[in-house]
Amino acid sequence: MKVLMVCLGNICRSPMAQGILEKKTIENGLAVTVDSAATSDYHVGDNPDPRSISKAAEHGIDISSQQGRQVQNSDFQKFDRIFVMDTSNYSNTVSLTNNVQEINKVELILNLISPGSNQSVPDPYYGGEDGFENMYRLLDTACNIIIEQIKNEQS
Ligand code: 4NP
Repeated sequence: MKVLMVCLGNICRSPMAQGILEKKTIENGLAVTVDSAATSDYHVGDNPDPRSISKAAEHGIDISSQQGRQVQNSDFQKFDRIFVMDTSNYSNTVSLTNNVQEINKVELILNLISPGSNQSVPDPYYGGEDGFENMYRLLDTACNIIIEQIKNEQS
C-alpha cells in the first residue's frame, strides 16, 4: 500500500499527515509507504514549517528532514490512495489526473471522519499555534481510520 498526502505548500499539513501515518504504520507493523507533496511550487526543497516540526515533536514524531516537492504525473500511478487536505487541493490535484481510475484515488482526508461532508483541514499557515494543534488532532483521527482500513484489507 502506498499513500500520498497532499496540501498547498507541503510544509504544514501534508508533512504532519505523513509523519503521523508513518508512525502509526510502524507501530502497527504494516507495510505502507507514505509520502507527501504540494499542489504549488512555493516551497519545493524546503523543510517543513518550524511550527509543524515542533507540533509533531510534541507527539514524538520527527518530520524535520522532510523536503517539499510538487505533485507529479507519475504519483497517480505510483500511489494507491492520495489524500488531500482541502477542497482547493482536491480540484488542483484532480485537474492533473488522466483518467477516472486516477481521479478515484484522490480523497478529501476529512471524509474519512465525516463521510461525504467534504470538509477541509484548515490551513494553519497564517494563523496561531491553535491552528497547528487543531490540525494535529484532525490528522491523528483521520490516520487512525486509514490504519484500520489497511488492517482490514490486509487481514
Ligand atoms: P500547507 O500550508 O499547504 O499546509 O503546507 C501552506 C504553506 C505555505 C503557503 C500556504 C499554505 N504559502 O502560501 O506559502
